[in-house]
Amino acid sequence: MASVSVDEAMRRAIALAARGLGATSPNPVVGCVLLDADGEVVGEGFHAYAGGPHAEIVALAQAGTRARGGTAVVTLEPCDHTGRTGPCSHALIAAGVARVVVAVPDPNPVASGGAATLRAAGVQVDTGVRAEEAEAGNVAWLTSMRRGWPYLIWKYAATLDGRSAAADGTSMWITSEAARIDVHALRGTVDAVIAGVGTVLADDPRLTARNLRDGTLAIRQPLRVVVDSSGRTPAEARVRDGAARTWVATAAEVGAGPDGRVDLSALLAELHHRGVRAALLEGGPTLAGAFLAAGLVDKIVGYVAPKLLGAGPTALLNAGVTTIADAIDLELTDVTQVGPDLRITALPRKREA
Ligand SMILES: NC(=O)c1ccc[n+]([C@@H]2O[C@H](COP(=O)([O-])OP(=O)(O)OC[C@H]3O[C@@H](n4cnc5c(N)ncnc54)[C@H](OP(=O)(O)O)[C@@H]3O)[C@@H](O)[C@H]2O)c1
Repeated sequence: MASVSVDEAMRRAIALAARGLGATSPNPVVGCVLLDADGEVVGEGFHAYAGGPHAEIVALAQAGTRARGGTAVVTLEPCDHTGRTGPCSHALIAAGVARVVVAVPDPNPVASGGAATLRAAGVQVDTGVRAEEAEAGNVAWLTSMRRGWPYLIWKYAATLDGRSAAADGTSMWITSEAARIDVHALRGTVDAVIAGVGTVLADDPRLTARNLRDGTLAIRQPLRVVVDSSGRTPAEARVRDGAARTWVATAAEVGAGPDGRVDLSALLAELHHRGVRAALLEGGPTLAGAFLAAGLVDKIVGYVAPKLLGAGPTALLNAGVTTIADAIDLELTDVTQVGPDLRITALPRKREA
């Protein structure tokens, strides 16, 4: 086989890492490509699920003795601690790897230190190769580890005139089946789905990730979180059907903000503590407005249907904006047609302090 450059190997490792998206939490996604001393690929691996072997271990097992004197190309700094599996730094040293190339350092204080251990054992360590690309592939995990609360995606569906329901309260369905299938796929990539008690009372949603055609549940279900200051979620609500774990987060349990409602920062800190790295905020307009006003939303995914209602609630309420100069500016990152609808992805621009 022809030899490949370290840069090409990193590109491949980043693609491998992406295969674990949605399945590795509370761990990151990681990919690894092992090159022998001549630069030939002798092993590949990715972290497929929490508790499973790390990417480096999978690649080392494939490479066997051909790893000796070779280069390990890894999207994230190899771990240095014994969790559910042993430290990757030690495994790389034991296999006789001569060089380790890392895209992004590990921000997790518990697991970091792999680069230092490798260097101390005489292994050459280089960092920063395709760092931006690797960072983008792991953005939810890296962001949540650096700051201690989950990466939050606000998803909503609206008509072209921005309505999330009709004047009589009916909202099923604003968007097409194709868009709703897309949402279920999105639910499968996060660790928690969050809704306000207003949505639970109005729509009685299941909030599970499932196959919309036959109703089968995805193997991995996000934690369902109902933000419910005083515990108004009915005992017979579908979110309590046992199909997935559910947490009804009350102000008594989480803490209350100045308005007496659930303190949203404390809620996110508690979710992080429970292993949630990426969360999907699914509604409705009151809760979305409160999260946006607090600057806690990292990404917005809007499904816009080619329909007009002319009346009815809007997709967003009270986001702390009263004048045009204070509008929440967004950077558009993607526009894709999904069936007859548009899926618009945007990132809120950081505001000046
Ligand atoms: N088109 C869409 O994408 C979409 C998605 C979801 C829902 N919806 C629609 O939205 C409507 C429901 O709207 P909604 O605004 O009443 O629902 P919501 O945003 O899901 O729930 C609002 C409730 O959340 C609770 N809450 C707890 N802590 C809060 C905090 N810190 N800040 C703000 N709220 C907090 C409040 O009740 P407590 O004070 O009692 O806790 C509040 O009334 C339904 O008609 C539904 O169909 C549309």
